[in-house]
Amino acid sequence: MASHESLVAAIDQGTSSTRVLIFSSKSVELITYHQLEIQQLYPKEGWVEEDPNEILQSVKTCLEKAVDNLRALNIDPANIKSVGITNQRETTVVWDKVTGKPLHNAIVWLDLRTASTVEQLINKTPQNDKDFLRPQCGLPITTYFSAVKLRWLMDNCEEVQQAIQDERCLFGTIDTWLLWNLTGGIDGGKHITDVTNASRTMLMSINSLHWDDYLCRFFEIPKAILPEIRSSSEIYGRVKDGLLTGVPVSGILGDQQAALVGQLCFSPGQAKNTYGTGCFLLMNTGTMPVESKCGLLTTVGYQLGKDKPVMYALEGAIAIAGASVRWLRDNLGIIKSSEEIETLALQVDSTHGCYFVPAFSGLFCPYWQSDARGTICGLTQFTNKQHIARATLEAVCFQTRELLEAMNKDSGIPLCSIQVDGGMTANNLLMQLQADLMGIEVVRPSMTETTALGAALAAGAAEGVNIWTLDPKDMSTITTDIFSPSIGVQGHYSLSFVMCIDSEILGSRTFMLQF
Ligand code: G3P
Repeated sequence: MASHESLVAAIDQGTSSTRVLIFSSKSVELITYHQLEIQQLYPKEGWVEEDPNEILQSVKTCLEKAVDNLRALNIDPANIKSVGITNQRETTVVWDKVTGKPLHNAIVWLDLRTASTVEQLINKTPQNDKDFLRPQCGLPITTYFSAVKLRWLMDNCEEVQQAIQDERCLFGTIDTWLLWNLTGGIDGGKHITDVTNASRTMLMSINSLHWDDYLCRFFEIPKAILPEIRSSSEIYGRVKDGLLTGVPVSGILGDQQAALVGQLCFSPGQAKNTYGTGCFLLMNTGTMPVESKCGLLTTVGYQLGKDKPVMYALEGAIAIAGASVRWLRDNLGIIKSSEEIETLALQVDSTHGCYFVPAFSGLFCPYWQSDARGTICGLTQFTNKQHIARATLEAVCFQTRELLEAMNKDSGIPLCSIQVDGGMTANNLLMQLQADLMGIEVVRPSMTETTALGAALAAGAAEGVNIWTLDPKDMSTITTDIFSPSIGVQGHYSLSFVMCIDSEILGSRTFMLQF
């Protein structure tokens, strides 16, 4: 078999699918990949779960298939020198370290079952303030983050209570669950997470980057079940069995932070927006955490090595972006594949007054309103599936515009262009609508797999692996497409609005955004 430059395998475990992508360290080239969709379970209205074993199996299968693809290309898999993990964040897994079995399905970040837990927690704060913990962890108390999900599991699941009592329970986000299993599981698996994933739990101090005593006491969570926090780029352990036995796992980043790295947003002020299941706009804010006044999140951007500086980010998070397209496909059946939405939406020149607010999981930034629900409004007998398809794309763009406005207010420096990535960015109509609705340039790299690339870069640059330098100049082979705004502020969309109707008092409370 032909020898090849060093390769890095990136495991990209997202909400909707698992992928393994193999990159060459020589020219930032994607050599091959394999992808499998993940089943989402909805046991009750508002609940979203996934099976941790299905997730793990999907990773193993994708690894095998990607290696098979390499062989078919006549490339020796022994060239794979390291493995990186990037993952859906906040999704919470608890398992038994003696049997290796999950104690419950994973509670997915979108899940709303913790609404009353959140209420109780907010009631504990001096002024019933959801932002009370922001100085410690950078995040508001909402259903989104792991500590709240873990609290619910401890309150509602006897198996979890028993396992904690017996000192058999381990907690982790998806990165931790995968790493523990890949490095040996019950036979010495490493119980580790990285700073970016830890920064989404509400249990880590955003300043010290350690599990915080006060936060753990606030949520009444025992530190003993938490993984060790490490940097995003170092050798955590080695793959225990299978085709990659002995290969170091040396990079871990939450998927949105991985995209920040993959887009080479290494300078303060640089920002990227990733269109996946949800949509996440992150701006690098440098070595100090910046507290948001506009409903954004303060998060760790990356720490690329244990002795390297920690870089922080401000984040705007939208729960539903690509998931709304999946909903058109799976629940309404108006498209057969996600790609079809572009063709459908292009058949009309506007939505003709139809607006879609896909608040399936409440509203995240900047509202943090978990009881908001989705709505489609402005329907007439003229409205057809083309208009609904176009309104779905516009909904993603309007929500992103809200994030941009919050980001501009918080940072004080208006962004004049934005780097984008993620599956939906293949949709040229979406990209043009986004440029039009934000009034700034949208810059799409020709290689849009930046999330996986970020994890691969972190894994390849780790001390002891050292097959990749993170000099942006080395990555200059990545070309871009630029979408420029094609309408003025007074143009076609000047009367457009986003309307969200509070689910509890339907119709009596309306938020409007006028452009
Ligand atoms: O915070 C949730 C986020 O990490 C999920 O990402 O790619 O599955 O939309 P994605």
